[in-house]
Amino acid sequence: MIILHIVLLSFFILDKVSMSHRRGNATSTELERTKRSFYCHPGYFVCNSTNICVEQRFICDEYQDCEDGSDEWNCTDLNKDKYYNMLFQKRPDEDRDKMTFKDCKINYTATICQCSGKSLFCENRMLKIVPVNLPRNTKELDLSGNDLKVVNHFNFTSLNLLEILIFNNAGVSELGKKVFHKFLSLRYLYLNGNQLHTIQNGTFLGSSTLRFLYLSYNPIQRLPVGSFLGLGNLEVLFLRHCLLTTIPQNIFKPLKNLKSLCLDENKIESFPNGVFSYLTKLETLSLSRNNLKSIDAKVLEGLWKLNTLYLTSNSLTELKPQNFGNLTSLLTLDLQDNEIHTIDVKAFELLGKLNSLNLKDNTLRHIHAECFVPVKNLQYIYFSSFYSCSLVRHVRVCEPNGDGISSFSHLLDSVVLRVCVWLVAGAACIANASVMVGRALLKETNSVHSFYIKNLSIADFLMSLYLFLIAGHDVAFRGKYIRHDVNWRHSWQCTLAGMLSTLSSEASIFIMTIITADRYMSIVYPLMLRRRTMLFAGTCITASWTAAVIIALLPALNLGYFGDEFYGNNGVCLPLQIHDPFSKGWEYSMLIFCGLNSAAFGFITYAYITMFITISRSKLGLRSSQQHQDRAIAKRFAFIVGTDLICWVPIIIIKFLSISGVRISSQLYAWVAVFMLPINSALNPVLYTLTTQLFKQQLARIVYTWRAGGGGVRVECTPALQELSGISMTSAPRHHHGRWSSSKGNSASLTTSDVRSFQ
Ligand SMILES: *[C@@H]1O[C@H](CO)[C@@H](O)[C@H](O)[C@H]1NC(C)=O
Ligand SMILES: *[C@@H]1O[C@H](CO)[C@@H](O)[C@H](O)[C@H]1NC(C)=O
Ligand SMILES: *[C@@H]1O[C@H](CO)[C@@H](O)[C@H](O)[C@H]1NC(C)=O
Ligand SMILES: *[C@@H]1O[C@H](CO)[C@@H](O)[C@H](O)[C@H]1NC(C)=O
Ligand SMILES: *[C@@H]1O[C@H](CO)[C@@H](O)[C@H](O)[C@H]1NC(C)=O
Ligand SMILES: *[C@@H]1O[C@H](CO)[C@@H](O)[C@H](O)[C@H]1NC(C)=O
Ligand SMILES: *[C@@H]1O[C@H](CO)[C@@H](O)[C@H](O)[C@H]1NC(C)=O
Repeated sequence: MIILHIVLLSFFILDKVSMSHRRGNATSTELERTKRSFYCHPGYFVCNSTNICVEQRFICDEYQDCEDGSDEWNCTDLNKDKYYNMLFQKRPDEDRDKMTFKDCKINYTATICQCSGKSLFCENRMLKIVPVNLPRNTKELDLSGNDLKVVNHFNFTSLNLLEILIFNNAGVSELGKKVFHKFLSLRYLYLNGNQLHTIQNGTFLGSSTLRFLYLSYNPIQRLPVGSFLGLGNLEVLFLRHCLLTTIPQNIFKPLKNLKSLCLDENKIESFPNGVFSYLTKLETLSLSRNNLKSIDAKVLEGLWKLNTLYLTSNSLTELKPQNFGNLTSLLTLDLQDNEIHTIDVKAFELLGKLNSLNLKDNTLRHIHAECFVPVKNLQYIYFSSFYSCSLVRHVRVCEPNGDGISSFSHLLDSVVLRVCVWLVAGAACIANASVMVGRALLKETNSVHSFYIKNLSIADFLMSLYLFLIAGHDVAFRGKYIRHDVNWRHSWQCTLAGMLSTLSSEASIFIMTIITADRYMSIVYPLMLRRRTMLFAGTCITASWTAAVIIALLPALNLGYFGDEFYGNNGVCLPLQIHDPFSKGWEYSMLIFCGLNSAAFGFITYAYITMFITISRSKLGLRSSQQHQDRAIAKRFAFIVGTDLICWVPIIIIKFLSISGVRISSQLYAWVAVFMLPINSALNPVLYTLTTQLFKQQLARIVYTWRAGGGGVRVECTPALQELSGISMTSAPRHHHGRWSSSKGNSASLTTSDVRSFQ
């Protein structure tokens, strides 16, 4: 166990070291020196001051490939920050908490509100009415956190100089007509988090000075057409997280100067045609987190100035020709987290200025490189899988750079991973082969148990074949993986690899469960031992293999349910589906990796614990050796359960996490997929054969025979040697059979080989 940890740790350190080397100077094949008067080949980008062309994947990789470092310039997509800057705009008074109160500059003598400079702060005072007779030169009034309910214009005294009025969470449920018309200089109005169900016609009449209006977090379901009448100078309107389902056609007509409109987190399913057509100055439109199934050119008509459009987290399924129409000023288009599966070749036509395009978290299957030809100025593009980056070679920054396992150039990106695959494959191959050969040659007393172990090593041996297959293709694709990626993932070799790994891991799990059940029966119900015939064992094993073969074969049968990328989901052909947790066939993957395997693991853990308890309770006769023996058995059981735990539980946990929406680090994913899963196959021979008493005895016998010069002198194992090699119990039955009774009081004697079989 400790050794395993040391090995893992050293691999981890090696990995970190190798990462720093991976970003070495680009080699001559990776950099192409061309004259500036020429052009860089597609997929290459010229440095600012030298004539070096740098490949797309070396741009923004945190290593300077250009002498002037210009390949690391412009790496931050400023478009991305704009959204959060918009959502979390500071209120003019945001830093009030830090601000020390200034002297009161207005003639305020009452004690209800706190005065600072020309501001009056009356928040959280449990006010039920708006304070009256406020000084006429007040510039800012904060009434947040009170309980005002219905507010009308006669509740206010006219404050000609008031610029900022804050009513956040003030319990306002109704606003009368022309309610703010007495504030002749009002610029900012905050009404977030109130109980407004609607905004009636003409509410804002007479507030033509208003620039910023915040109505987020109100239970507004419907808005009449005249809600925003009189807001001719409004620049920013927030209606985030209301309960809006529809937007009337002409509602935005008065908002001739609107620049930013946020309708996030509503329940809007569609917009009437031309609803935004009056917003000729609109620059930012955010429709994220609604239920939009489609949006088309007719809806977005007239937005000449629009430069930022957010459609994140909707239900868009396809992009039709000229889907966004004539948005000739558009710079940023965010389509993350939709269900887009088809993109028409002409979908992005007329978006000539587009600079940043986000297509992450969509179910893109077949997109053509031609889609992106019209968007010549695209600088940043985001996909879910790095494979798609090969479609947009003219875009300077494409993310992601890899999926943790593969990258543009290599099937196995990490050097350590590459080495590990060979090591684990070799170890699993040699260990399992020697178990098979060894057990076939040596005569064994417990043939049923040996039969199980032989089958286990066949199953584990298949895993080494899988690893060799992957490692071999990794070598074949070295340096140019992206060119082979699609073909490889859809090839029969990849399907075969996926089937091998599934067959191996499932057969292995089934057989381990059978072995556990067998041991469990013989320890906990020793009277039923007669059942352990070769016929019964053969039936169990045949059933396991059949089940495993069916499980592995089903996805390869071209059933519609699995799609064509069940095994070809990633470069190593594992149907783990961690990065794309809801891709086709995820229920099946979930059933195998979580359902079946955690059930098996649960049973194994339970069985070993029960066995241990039974053993330690029942051995009353043996006193001196008991503790030592208990410890030895406990150690071995803990080792078996522990290795299963470190191999399988991370996979189960990670899979559950990814299903529940947690983003799994791609590094971790790679290690789990290529290392955790197969390592059990390399360890099983150690657990079930190489460290057992029986094996040690056989080995000792051979060594002793050899030492004796082959003179035919067979040296029997001395108890001392057995002591040294682990458990003293096996020497005991020679002198007296241990009588073990089960907890239920039944008793039966165990043969030496029974006990040996699990030691
Ligand atoms: C990269 O190249 C520069 C100059 O071409 C050289 O000075 C530097 O040592 C190289 N770095 C590595 C890691 O090879
Ligand atoms: C980029 O190169 C040009 C000359 O080709 C130079 O004038 C300019 O200063 C460089 N830009 C930076 C930021 O170094
Ligand atoms: C960085 O962006 C600026 C402005 O878009 C552009 O002028 C410049 O050429 C870009 N630099 C590189 C190295 O792409
Ligand atoms: C403040 O109010 C008092 C009486 O209420 C008045 O005498 C005084 O002139 C006022 N000062 C200003 C600056 O308005
Ligand atoms: C507004 O004025 C009416 C009539 O004077 C009064 O009943 C009501 O409580 C006032 N509401 C607020 C919020 O001040
Ligand atoms: C609001 O005004 C529009 C005309 O601007 C009218 O058609 C509509 O019926 C009015 N709605 C209400 C609730 O008064
Ligand atoms: C796009 O809009 C421009 C005006 O900004 C107009 O001249 C042009 O015809 C429109 N193109 C299409 C295809 O609608």
